[in-house]
Amino acid sequence: MSDLENHFGDDASLDEEDRSDILAFLVRNSAEKSTQESSVKILASIKNKDIIAITDTIFWKQSHKQIPKDVFNHNEVKSSANCKACHSDIEKGLIQDDKIKNISDFM
Ligand code: HEC
Repeated sequence: MSDLENHFGDDASLDEEDRSDILAFLVRNSAEKSTQESSVKILASIKNKDIIAITDTIFWKQSHKQIPKDVFNHNEVKSSANCKACHSDIEKGLIQDDKIKNISDFM
């Protein structure tokens, strides 16, 4: 949030009011403040490492290691970062087991 001009190769800069509103939201809803099972597990697996992608955490890698690589390249998935392709309630901040799509749909 402190260098949005260089955001993974994009210029994502915002006016100061929007930037500070989003920063406050992120801090308020960070894994450190969450009691969600997945937040606690992801945070614990980061330890003191400097990881900026959730898909680079040990917990994420272990949770998804059974999924064949081709599934992440499927036309409707495209990338491991496209959580919504498989976790249909993730935009509500939820990762419920009964809302995980059947990956055989992507094979
Ligand atoms: C190709 C489909 C797919 C994509 C894309 C995907 N997931 Fe998953 N995810 C799964 C499946 C399937 C499981 C269940 C694995 C199991 O139980 O063996 C899972 C499990 C999880 C779990 C563990 C849930 C639990 O109860 O232990 C978390 C957390 C999670 N995913 C988060 C994410 C996040 C965050 C993203 C995006 C960065 C993501 N996933 C992308 C399919 C996917």
